[in-house]
Amino acid sequence: MHKTITVIYGDGIGPEVTEQSVRVLSAIAETYGHEFTYQRALLGAEAIDATGTALPQETIDMALDSDAVLFGAVGHPKYDNDPHAKVRPEQGILGIRKALQLFANVRPVKAYPNLSHLSPLKARYLENVDFVIYRELTGGIYFGEKETDPDGKWAKDTCSYTAEEIERITHLAYQAAIQRRGKLTLVDKANVLDSSRLWRKVVQSIAIQYPEVKTDFLFVDNAAMQLITNPAQFDVILTENMFGDILSDESSVLCGSLGLLPSASIGNKLALFEPIHGSYPQAAGQDIANPIASLLSAAMMLDFFEMNNEADLIRAAVNWTLTNGFVTKDIDPVNFYFTSTIGDLISDFVTGKIPGGVNLSNIEYRKSTII
Ligand code: IPM
Ligand code: MN
Repeated sequence: MHKTITVIYGDGIGPEVTEQSVRVLSAIAETYGHEFTYQRALLGAEAIDATGTALPQETIDMALDSDAVLFGAVGHPKYDNDPHAKVRPEQGILGIRKALQLFANVRPVKAYPNLSHLSPLKARYLENVDFVIYRELTGGIYFGEKETDPDGKWAKDTCSYTAEEIERITHLAYQAAIQRRGKLTLVDKANVLDSSRLWRKVVQSIAIQYPEVKTDFLFVDNAAMQLITNPAQFDVILTENMFGDILSDESSVLCGSLGLLPSASIGNKLALFEPIHGSYPQAAGQDIANPIASLLSAAMMLDFFEMNNEADLIRAAVNWTLTNGFVTKDIDPVNFYFTSTIGDLISDFVTGKIPGGVNLSNIEYRKSTII
């Protein structure tokens, strides 16, 4: 099968983690006889430096002309603490989500039993944690009307939703729940917000069409607590844009590292795949960032192409590295391997050189030497 993939490296560690995914995708293509064409596009701080805007029109055009987008990370410290900055790297990712109408952000969260020591939670809370967040991505307070008083005395952001915006992601979330354990939890703040009451009404009316799914409702403050006290109860969490942003970062502590969590942002025909982590500028260029979130995002892209065996092979390779201690610095700060070494190992696994053919002394050679 032939697919054209728009690759956006973005900022910070974006290039080095995305590079591993491109290598592993090429290994998949080689193994299964596919042909992947990659076209590079700019977004974020790298685009501001090159073109003056965080999202050049050319990037949107290239994305629209491809089968999927593989994205690295966005954000640069030089813009973070300047409230007057007119252009910001984040405008790039928000803009492309809107331009491509990527309305559903899918964030799976799984706790790996052998990494439970990395989580601040006791291991018993992490048993059977396996859920997915469906975060609405193109509406709500992120995209509502905004205004700042020129005298700096007030500023406002508006959270608004249409029933149609809620309906389209709700159907996707229910379809996911059917494939999973048959439970959907809507997270909202319907005791306070009109927009949340609309979410509840729309979801209640759609729930009737999915009698095989059990629907629950939780206020977001309660959900934030339950994600820590009883995370195994969740299967599919459906929520609006900003609640989903916050709860997905919170959820990352369950699996021990933000560097492990992938995501897919799905539109009507196109989808974008990106790690949930940011650009981690302190680590940029050091070959120490965890490429697993990007690799698992690439696996989600293969699922989107209906290449499910190929996606499973990447996931098997990832599990193999994690269970054999081939991990980056975020997971083991002393005995760690480099970003590119994890990429080598996973590519080798995909092309069938592992298991059986692991030359441990070669791998050890590429390990950190800080001890
Ligand atoms: C995310 C990020 C973005 C968001 C930022 C970079 C604009 O935090 O993808 O979760 O808030 O959506
Ligand atoms: Mn976020």
